Amino acid sequence: MTSLVYTITETLRYRGAIGQWSWVLHRITGLGVLLFLVLHVIDTSWAVFYPELYVRAIASYQSPLFTLGEFGLVACVVYHAYNGFRIALIDLRPKWWKHQQRAAYVVLAATAITLVPVFILMFSHVLHFYEDSPQVLGLIDVLKEQLPFVAGIALAVIAAVLFSAVTGLILGDKGGHARKGSKLERFWWSFMRISGVLIIPLVFGHLAMMHILQGVFDITAQTTVVGTPYINESATAVEFVGNRWGYIVGGIFIWRVYDFALLVLVTIHGFNGLRYVLTDYTMNSNLFRRASVYLATIGAVVLLVVGGAALFSTVPAGAIEEAEREVQLIYGESAGADSETEVLPTPAETAEAASGG
Ligand code: HEM
Ligand code: HEM
Repeated sequence: MTSLVYTITETLRYRGAIGQWSWVLHRITGLGVLLFLVLHVIDTSWAVFYPELYVRAIASYQSPLFTLGEFGLVACVVYHAYNGFRIALIDLRPKWWKHQQRAAYVVLAATAITLVPVFILMFSHVLHFYEDSPQVLGLIDVLKEQLPFVAGIALAVIAAVLFSAVTGLILGDKGGHARKGSKLERFWWSFMRISGVLIIPLVFGHLAMMHILQGVFDITAQTTVVGTPYINESATAVEFVGNRWGYIVGGIFIWRVYDFALLVLVTIHGFNGLRYVLTDYTMNSNLFRRASVYLATIGAVVLLVVGGAALFSTVPAGAIEEAEREVQLIYGESAGADSETEVLPTPAETAEAASGG
């Protein structure tokens, strides 16, 4: 804790080189993307396991708060990816180290140049959606939807600290793993660089599909599902995921394989990054340093199991009907409609109808 306060005060006090700020930005953007990933993998799994919860999660994604967050998320991913690539590249050759400063400025410029057209395209999707005063989930509802995640994260922290206390009591607080540890750390050092570079095309491709080729609002539109030839007939998020994960090319569920590669790489990379950050600030306490490692491990295992289980399952029969009923419940209430049989148009359908599409 003292070292965290020290880092913050020294970072603010030290008006030094760009390298210092690159390090801070890399850390903040990495943690920001990881927080989103935790929510995202868990709520994507609901498309298979709890369709009605998935409808609510996507309704949250389509609220103004998340729209703002989405711009921030894309900025974080782009900066972290470019800066991570710079780190990986320059670490390859010590003689390139003298170019660190210039490279850090190039990263900032490349991030800005990338974000201008990307934000314009993303903003055009948002504008299109709001043209027709669509129904959106209220702020309080959106915040309420996030409460289970807050509880889950708190539980994971408590479990990690308790587990650390118990292992401390059983095994004692002696070190003794320095040699083995340093060999392992060399592995993680390489893993972070190799996985980072592999993640770039995967995450950029994923974001291009979800933000540029289509917008987040198109997940609930009655249009062709991005990357597949299927139409999302029910205009529900559940059918969207069902169509993507059901699309086979050459005998392979291509989007499942793609998502699996993304899941494994970002989860292990992100949680190992979390371990770096947490252990940096818990050096002086064996209890909390061990707890940091356990927390990162618990997080990674939970995400790999939940995300993997969803990818290896099929959207069950009846899930789309359940999703349609939930859409009626959410948007029907706010519109004051009480039709039992007719499925009310989703926000994106309304926008599409208004634009004559
Ligand atoms: C898009 C491609 C990415 C690249 C090229 C990349 C690259 C890197 C590199 C080179 C490091 C430094 C590792 C070290 O110091 O040994 C790092 C750290 C980190 N990355 Fe990534 N990464 C990427 C994506 C992600 C994603 C998707 C997440 C979150 C899920 C993430 C979270 C983190 C965190 C939390 C750290 C630790 C930061 C610190 O120690 O200050 N990264 N990344
Ligand atoms: C707001 C931005 C995003 C949206 C709207 C979005 C949307 C989706 C959707 C609809 C799926 C379901 C499967 C599919 O269609 O392929 C999915 C899956 C997935 N996304 Fe994203 N995504 C976003 C950002 C990200 C980012 C930044 C990452 C990585 C850091 C990511 C990682 C994943 C992973 C790993 C899966 C598979 C989940 C599982 O195994 O259950 N997504 N995403």
